[in-house]
Amino acid sequence: MSSAATSLRSVTARVPAKINLELMVGPLRPDGFHHLATVFQAVGLHDDVTVEPAPDWGITINGPYADLVPADDTNLALRAARLLAAEAGIDSPVQITIDKDIPVAAGMAGGSADAAGALLACDALWGVWSSKAALNDLAARLGSDVPFALLGGTAMGSGRGDQLAPVLGRGRYTWVLALSDVGLSTPQVYAECDRLRTGRRVPEPTASAAMMTALRSGNPESLGRALRNDLQPAALSLQPRLEEVLRTGLDNGALGGIISGSGPTVAFLVSDTERSLDLAVALTASGAAPSVKRAVGPVRGAHIVTAASGPRGSFGTTGHTGPAGLRSS
Ligand code: C5P
Repeated sequence: MSSAATSLRSVTARVPAKINLELMVGPLRPDGFHHLATVFQAVGLHDDVTVEPAPDWGITINGPYADLVPADDTNLALRAARLLAAEAGIDSPVQITIDKDIPVAAGMAGGSADAAGALLACDALWGVWSSKAALNDLAARLGSDVPFALLGGTAMGSGRGDQLAPVLGRGRYTWVLALSDVGLSTPQVYAECDRLRTGRRVPEPTASAAMMTALRSGNPESLGRALRNDLQPAALSLQPRLEEVLRTGLDNGALGGIISGSGPTVAFLVSDTERSLDLAVALTASGAAPSVKRAVGPVRGAHIVTAASGPRGSFGTTGHTGPAGLRSS
């Protein structure tokens, strides 16, 4: 039944980074999270996550950010693979290799992308063939942004950010991403947001009409004006240098600029590729941003790019529950 899947030698999933076009943060919940109303967009910066059968669980990270990522049991991709294995009754360890191009601790959900990639790749390697709903459920257990890394495109997120509804928008947007050489911790940024709002009544968050209208119009000028992030004051309070980055971008042709998620990456929207080159040069030359990347969005979510088959080795995928493993319910 699953003979094709069980003979796979390795599977590679490609997963995009995200930016939040709008991030409205509600009150702190008893579980330590905040109610969100957010609009995600997947952008063309990717990590490739490869899984292959191995005698023991392991992970290797390649690329310029490799030193910043834990290559041990705390790694979210490894936790994702093990979670799927436990849920599907798989007893076949994998070696995970991540070719990393998404900056780390940058507010672009790079760790979440790796978890989503590991889920999708292992699901195919082991021939589990989980339903979308089942994979989403596992994704949400791993982190608030993991379901969106699976879905991609442009989507509205509610709850912790894990309840998703695709947004039917038009247009393809060009982004310039000003990276920082010092990361920001997501829990610290949320805590700073709470501190800054102490004593104030915080309403339940709702997506703005301006954002939805802008996305429906496909007009980058409107979208530039509608960008909004409630975590921005907190990120600026923790890294005041980001004010200068924002100012430099807005003074050099950006249609809008916003801290991405909990930061510290600043995402600037520009009208076209030529402007993106101009702005990248201006940000670099001014010294405001140590490094700059360009990306377009929306792009698709996690997808499989390579599934190499071959003779089954000594680490065959024995012991799994078959294609129906996580399908029911
Ligand atoms: O879900 P994830 O592990 O990405 O969240 C990291 C941290 O960000 C949480 O522990 C919490 O401090 C904060 N967070 C939050 N409200 C959310 C999402 C994340 O307070 N909706």
